[in-house]
Amino acid sequence: MIQLQSNQSIKQHCHPATAPLILIPTMGALHAGHFSMITKAKKLAGEHGCVIVSIFVNPIQFDRSQDLDSYPRSLEQDLAHCERLGVDYVFTPSSEEFYEEDRSIDVSESALSSLLCGATRAGHFNGVCTVITKLFNLIQPTAAIFGEKDYQQLAIIRRLVRDLSYQIEIIGQPTVRETSGLALSSRNQKLSEDDLPLAPAIREGLLLAKDLYNNGERSSDRILSKFRLHLDKAAPSSNIDYLECVDAENLLKIKDVDRPAVIATAVFFGQVRLIDNIIL
Ligand code: PAJ
Repeated sequence: MIQLQSNQSIKQHCHPATAPLILIPTMGALHAGHFSMITKAKKLAGEHGCVIVSIFVNPIQFDRSQDLDSYPRSLEQDLAHCERLGVDYVFTPSSEEFYEEDRSIDVSESALSSLLCGATRAGHFNGVCTVITKLFNLIQPTAAIFGEKDYQQLAIIRRLVRDLSYQIEIIGQPTVRETSGLALSSRNQKLSEDDLPLAPAIREGLLLAKDLYNNGERSSDRILSKFRLHLDKAAPSSNIDYLECVDAENLLKIKDVDRPAVIATAVFFGQVRLIDNIIL
């Protein structure tokens, strides 16, 4: 495995690929959700292709500096996991190296970004779009993998590729979960001992809501009520940040579920904000 730390070195190693070059962008603190993407990438890359994992805690997508400072960092362990899983390249730039000091251009998305997670996290998705655009330009992958856990992020990246005409295939990765159903996330480490056993209530509520839909219910209000009731009962100390039933593509709220839709939610347990979703 080769570790590349500068924008220059990545340009020397990655040039328009003739074999698959599959990128997995991450912020490190790698867990089984990330491992599943690497394993998928290795299969897709085949014998002649390459897998590149970027590990970069992107400062411009954090709206609160406290969040950025407390983001878990475990580079040594992350590198060992990448080596073990057969990753060909890891890209681990410093922030000073990655961004010009007087950077004055951002990539902004103006429709999907203001909804759901974007409503309370100003500038977050512009930060994501900017870092991903730079990674795409530097690395020029043939494909990139993003997790369905961050459904809105995946939808925005698909837009980025469509609207800026990138010739990069975007592949969605199903959410990897604990046996309890809790979606794996680096934030789970921050849950208190009391909250940890309550957090799977998010997944349970989503499954109950989907059951209702599968039994013929089409009113999003009634479907979402099922989730709320369950969370109130199973995790009364939690606080819903948002809970919406949205069109699977443009993320606009829908009243009657008569097309592909997603229930997306963010729930606070203390200061820890967890997100999850389920596709109807
Ligand atoms: P990060 O939170 O490190 O996640 C990296 C990728 O892993 C994302 O595509 C995310 O959706 C996926 N992922 C996280 N948890 C997962 C799980 N339980 N199962 C499957 N996939 C999972 O998302 C980011 O970083 C950043 O915003 C980034 C895209 C790297 C831009 O900075």
